[in-house]
Amino acid sequence: MRVLVIGSGGREHALCRALRLDPTVTEVHCAPGNPGMAEIAELHQVAATDGAAVAELAGRLEVGLVVIGPEAPLVAGVADAVRSAGIPCFGPSREAAAIEGSKAFAKDVMLAAGVPTARARTCVTDAEAATALDEFGPPYVVKDDGLAAGKGVVVTDGRDEALAHAGACERVVIEEYLDGPEVSLFALCDGVTAVPLQPAQDFKRAYDGDKGPNTGGMGAYTPLPWAPAGLTEQVMSEIVLPTVAELARRGMPYTGVLYAGLALTEAGPRVIEFNARFGDPETQVVLDRLETPLGGLLLACATGALAAHEPLRWRGGAAVTVVLAAENYPADPVKGDAIDGLPIGVEGAYVLHAGTALDGSGRLVSNGGRVLNVVGTGADVAEARTRAYDALGEITMRGSHHRSDIALHASGA
Ligand code: AMP
Ligand code: GLY
Repeated sequence: MRVLVIGSGGREHALCRALRLDPTVTEVHCAPGNPGMAEIAELHQVAATDGAAVAELAGRLEVGLVVIGPEAPLVAGVADAVRSAGIPCFGPSREAAAIEGSKAFAKDVMLAAGVPTARARTCVTDAEAATALDEFGPPYVVKDDGLAAGKGVVVTDGRDEALAHAGACERVVIEEYLDGPEVSLFALCDGVTAVPLQPAQDFKRAYDGDKGPNTGGMGAYTPLPWAPAGLTEQVMSEIVLPTVAELARRGMPYTGVLYAGLALTEAGPRVIEFNARFGDPETQVVLDRLETPLGGLLLACATGALAAHEPLRWRGGAAVTVVLAAENYPADPVKGDAIDGLPIGVEGAYVLHAGTALDGSGRLVSNGGRVLNVVGTGADVAEARTRAYDALGEITMRGSHHRSDIALHASGA
């Protein structure tokens, strides 16, 4: 089977890498891709959000499966265009992807399905926002209702800051603060059935000690040695399966990965947000540990055959990824800085590209906020972490920054 992957980040590089390891996958194609993906896949210059162009490319390449990585093409209906062309597609329809694209829609689905989440109010005017802030009290949580690449959320003790963020957005969701460690759980769905992947944790703040602004994610690890026993089963039965059933009931069956961003509160797991795609950079570590061939698994989701698929197999051990970010990420990342030190020579570690490009002379340079993901693997989180940081130490890039505390607590340090 040939597979076409849509997207160009570290998550898509991880998807390509795992697909290449599936013996039933004969060729991997990507659009638009990045220089790291070019080493293992054939790249095509098609805009990821252009459904007609993606469907045309998939038809021309005669692929047996299209895998859509980022949220923007999903929300733009690219999966619908591919399926209309008769090609199996891993990724929800435009309608179902609103579970990520509209926080108000997600809250409505959760309410109908009885899924535990923060109580929330959708607000348009300043007066509505002020009332909601005072109803819930500090810390205040204010979320832009539209897609904001993980950066539309302000969590603050400052009422003025909270009001200012609400005023700067057209429509916001203001909600109760959820206290507890965060976990990312991905469930693969075929419209009816859902199968969980191994939980992971990411680090959303830019700087060590969870300081600084929210980012797309500065690092991740899996498994979670500290997670309560039965967590995955509880999240599947209380959160994922009711959500999948509610979407099916509404005539928008969910095909693809449902990403539950959870807070483990004292009262149990609560949904912070749903995403309609794999998390980045959690995917980089979760797929590293998945032993089941990925192509056949994603095809089973795309064709409604998940119930008949064999149970997932995992490699054991752990994986840790650390993001190398560009100067001034997340505010306004500097591009075009040369990246030196690749390939790295640390056993059990490798690099996935995110925001990279080749300049006019063929030199690898930064081309986005999150530039590289360095992945370390090992028998446990501590070993995987050591390898990731050893490998990161071989790479130099002017102005770059990274967190030094990814998976630190989980490694038992
Ligand atoms: P989101 O884009 O909804 O994932 O929000 C980004 C980050 O803001 C989350 O990972 C949390 O750290 C934080 N956050 C969002 N909603 C809440 C909430 N209700 N309570 C506490 N923290 C939150
Ligand atoms: N790692 C967080 C996200 O993908 O939204």
